[in-house]
This record gives sequence, C-alpha cells and structure tokens, in this order.
Amino acid sequence: MSMNRVLANDGIDSLGKEMLEKAGFFVETQKAAEPELINTINQGNFNVLLVRSATKVTSTVIEACPNLKLIGRAGVGLDNIDLIAAKAHGIRVINTPAASSQSVAELVLAHLFSGVRFLQDSNYKMRSEGDTHFGALKKQYSAGTELRGKTLGIIGFGRIGQALGRMAAGMGMNVIASDPFITEATLEVEIPMTKTTVPVKVKTVPLSDILMLSDFISLHVPGKVDGKALIGDSEIAKMKPGIGIVNAARGGVVDEDALLHGIDTGKIAFVGLDVFEGEPTPRKELLKNSRISVSPHIGAATVEAQERIAVEMAAQIIDFFAA
Ligand code: MLT
Repeated sequence: MSMNRVLANDGIDSLGKEMLEKAGFFVETQKAAEPELINTINQGNFNVLLVRSATKVTSTVIEACPNLKLIGRAGVGLDNIDLIAAKAHGIRVINTPAASSQSVAELVLAHLFSGVRFLQDSNYKMRSEGDTHFGALKKQYSAGTELRGKTLGIIGFGRIGQALGRMAAGMGMNVIASDPFITEATLEVEIPMTKTTVPVKVKTVPLSDILMLSDFISLHVPGKVDGKALIGDSEIAKMKPGIGIVNAARGGVVDEDALLHGIDTGKIAFVGLDVFEGEPTPRKELLKNSRISVSPHIGAATVEAQERIAVEMAAQIIDFFAA
C-alpha cells in the first residue's frame, strides 16, 4: 500500500504532525500559494489536504485534484471549503468543532475588558503621549465601567457561545442568549480551586430581547444568513444606548457600515472585532477607529487550542484510513 500523504497547507501543531508521522503518514507543511495549490497537490501525490481559514478549497481545486480523499479543516468554520463540490467528488470533509471554544470565548472577554476601559485607545496613545500628557490621558479614560452585574447578550448559543456564557456567569454577569436551534442550556461554571461546578441554566430568548436588554452583545453564529448581516442599522437602533458589540464569528455578520454609523452617532460605545468582511485586507476606517478594539482573526490562535485541534485532526485522519 502506498503511503498516505498529507499537505498541511496552513500548518499543523507539531503534536499532530508527530502523531501522523508515527502512524506512517508523510506530512508536508510547506505552504503552496493559491495559484500553485493544484500543482502542489497533484505533483506531490497528496490524498489529504489540511487547511485552516487561509487556504480556500474551491470547486476548481477539488475538480482538478482527483487523488484527494480527505479535506481536514483545522478549526470550526467550513466556509472556506466548497462542501457541495467535495461531496460530488466523494471527498470526506472533517473539522474540529470543539477544540477552540475556550480560546475564542477568552478573546471575546479580552475585547470586552478592553472596550469598557478604553484599552484599545490608551495602549496606542500611551506609547506616543504617555510621558508628556499622562494627566490628560488619565482624565480621558477615567469613566470606565465594570463588567460584573451587566447583561451580556450572546447571539448563537453553541459551543463557543456557551463557553463565553460560562465564564461571564462566573464573573458575575447576567447571561442571556438566543439561538434558533437551542431552547435551553446548562452552563457548568467550574471553580477548579475548590473542585466545584455550579450549574447555571440559561433558557434562550428571542433575538429582539437580546437587542433590547443587553449591555454588551457577542455573536457566535456560523456566518451571514443568505449573504445578509444579522445585525444592521435597524437592529442597532433597538439596542441600549452605550452598547458594546463584539464580533469574533465571521466578518460581516454585523454590518460594518452600521457599526461605524452607530459609533459616530454615539449609540455604540465600543466594538471588538476579530473578523472582518474584507479579510485579509480589512477596511482602514475600522482599523483606525479609536472605539474599535481590533485583532487579526486570532480567536483560535492559542497554543492550547492549536494543540487540541492538531491532535483531534490527526486522530480523525488516522481513523479515516484505518476504517
Ligand atoms: C475557525 O473557524 O476555526 C476560526 O475562524 C479560526 C480560524 O480558522 O482561524
């Protein structure tokens, strides 16, 4: 039997690579840029293509690579893979839906903590003016607020939404959530120091309640619905004045023009964005806005999540060929 060959085009953590190599797979981690992807797969005789979000696995790639048997998405979202073309060509597509929830949820909290204390702006201004205008900056950032006791509205209450809810509840926030497929979830709030777990039951509510009642809103949905943003001008109009919104899901699930407009009118106090409609070239107005805390799609980019992703992915690839 010839050796199975894996092209990990967006890399793979060394733990997963070692697992695959021990199981007899050849693993290539040298990235092929989009124009060379098809040639690289065919000339290298790869039958497994492993990607994160950077590599787009289009129908053109799938149709031109008859040896491909398996496409692995090292992460959650499958929006960069043409699933219909993969199915039509009998190629199995696998992902790692649970491995990065905690990391994404922690990044959302980081954006929330930044927003309520203006850190996205003060980090920037302190660098250039901290030694000359310390007092003025102290005054400028003196009206921060606490997260404890505030209401966090979570739109999309799957694994990531629930991981966020667990931590927010543990911090003393009031958690409300909406989800078209989930009516109720029990958040197991862990306190490892005392080896206790506190169950917190959350019944989901209609989206309109989230818009009206939340002090902060975070979205955890797979993407736009029929090409449309979930949150636009009319939804923002229903929110509390001074709302903080975080999007670490997919670019454009909150309309970017509506966000900028909401900030300009003072309706939105701050925004946290890890994802952008125009990735990898997001709009400058978003990046430069002092009320927007920005990060370059790094929700799952932690050592822990990448290790879990790689190990889970390697195990699934090994199982696939063992079956
Ligand atoms: C995901 O879908 O797993 C996340 O967007 C993280 C990523 O792939 O970069």
